[in-house]
Amino acid sequence: MAKVPANVLVIFDEAYYEFSDIPFSGISFLSKNKPVIVLRTFSKAFGLAGLRVGFAVSHPDLINGLSRVRDPFNASVPALAGALAAWQDREYLQEIVNKNREERERLTATLISLGARVFPAHTNFIMVFFPEDGTKLGDDLLKAGIIVRPGNIFGYPDGIRITIGTREENDKLLDFLKKRYAV
Ligand SMILES: Cc1ncc(COP(=O)(O)O)c(C=O)c1O
Repeated sequence: MAKVPANVLVIFDEAYYEFSDIPFSGISFLSKNKPVIVLRTFSKAFGLAGLRVGFAVSHPDLINGLSRVRDPFNASVPALAGALAAWQDREYLQEIVNKNREERERLTATLISLGARVFPAHTNFIMVFFPEDGTKLGDDLLKAGIIVRPGNIFGYPDGIRITIGTREENDKLLDFLKKRYAV
């Protein structure tokens, strides 16, 4: 950020902010008078992807500029009511974040014990590498009723991206992988 010229607008996509254990936000640059826009969403930790609602934090003049070009009715009244209620329920948010962290750590440790490499993550998914093609593994998981993202779409053909599910969903995945990789 120190090297970014003053006339360049920097946009921070903080879709996974609530999940992260690192207390950092691009909002800290606003007080340094940098041209910054921070984007947040209710689609991730708040679990409201279907409502299509999020928000931007920036300097008043930049927000004013955005307001001039946005659709006049871009968020519905029910979406705004849902977002506000979710925003205010910090206890429930914390519960979701804690559960996600617990399950992410449990999945990561078990997958490593099965011989996988796992990228450290701060989100609600992990990138996992087994010694086989990610697309083949993804297809076999799909046949077993488990949906993951094959890594080739992210440029990692030997990986799969696993979204952290409920404990039961994660157990189903682990049972499948234990059968495939247990020595
Ligand atoms: C990094 C990142 N930013 C933004 C989004 C989109 O969020 P929204 O549902 O608010 O469009 C996603 C969701 O897939 C994401 O992964």
